[in-house]
Amino acid sequence: MAFTTEGSADQPSVPAATQPSWIRPVSEGTEQATPNDYDSFAEAYSAENETSLLNAYYERPAMLNLAGDVAGRRILDAGCGSGPLSAALRDRGAVMTGFDSSAKLLELARRRLGDGADLHLADLTDPLPFPDAAFDDVVASLVLHYLEDWTAPLAELRRVLRPGGRLLVSVNHPFVDFLDAARSGGSYFGIRETREEWTLGGHTALMRFYGRPLHAMADAFTGAGFHITGIDEPSPAPEARELYPDVFADRPSGTFVCFLFFALQAG
Ligand SMILES: C[S@@+](CC[C@H](N)C(=O)[O-])C[C@H]1O[C@@H](n2cnc3c(N)ncnc32)[C@H](O)[C@@H]1O
Repeated sequence: MAFTTEGSADQPSVPAATQPSWIRPVSEGTEQATPNDYDSFAEAYSAENETSLLNAYYERPAMLNLAGDVAGRRILDAGCGSGPLSAALRDRGAVMTGFDSSAKLLELARRRLGDGADLHLADLTDPLPFPDAAFDDVVASLVLHYLEDWTAPLAELRRVLRPGGRLLVSVNHPFVDFLDAARSGGSYFGIRETREEWTLGGHTALMRFYGRPLHAMADAFTGAGFHITGIDEPSPAPEARELYPDVFADRPSGTFVCFLFFALQAG
């Protein structure tokens, strides 16, 4: 989830990074690690997610805004992590189910949501353990960009939604991804693997993402039987500027871009 930084003589300057200090390029020694091992830093990630600019004051409010009135809706939280979005949707009256591929994050979700919470250890690249048409909505916050191929995962999400149900997605913004890729001569087109090092709670984890151009995202959604009903590029929550003065000090309003949001309807 990188944003670009200072300019140089031949490269125009863009506002300073939204990227927190704990995200860095991959260094020697980390490159051999298993990528995306959330179990290895679950507590630290969950704590960071709880209050971070990108999650608590940008992604989550935007997703809740997109979801609107969810009272009584059966919602699946795909890649639920430690459950902050599930908790917020449940507080608004939704009936929540969640799954994640990290057992440790699920443990934290259970601690947050209670023993009776409907939580499953499952991988989005495998068939999901839910019947057809079981949900009114699926929310997929910041999970699809971990997957190289979206075909089978989107088909599964479509299968578990009732016809007319909604899939609400947030992903790394393809434009922001591309600015990073362009620095090393990378192309906008095609699927780009990128790696980062995340150091949280004294542990350094190797993270691997797959960026893709906007048209590839649209093709994947429509190919899986979804109609695109909305695309959103929200601003951070109003209180973010006050809470994170360092990030916003040199950043005129309208220059904060990090994630892209889709509202989709199952056809
Ligand atoms: C950036 S975190 C976001 C967590 C949560 N959705 C949120 O927004 O707070 C990404 C989550 O996706 C999960 N994840 C990554 N790949 C996955 C996969 N193939 N299947 C299920 N979950 C996955 C991770 O374990 C992690 O919980």
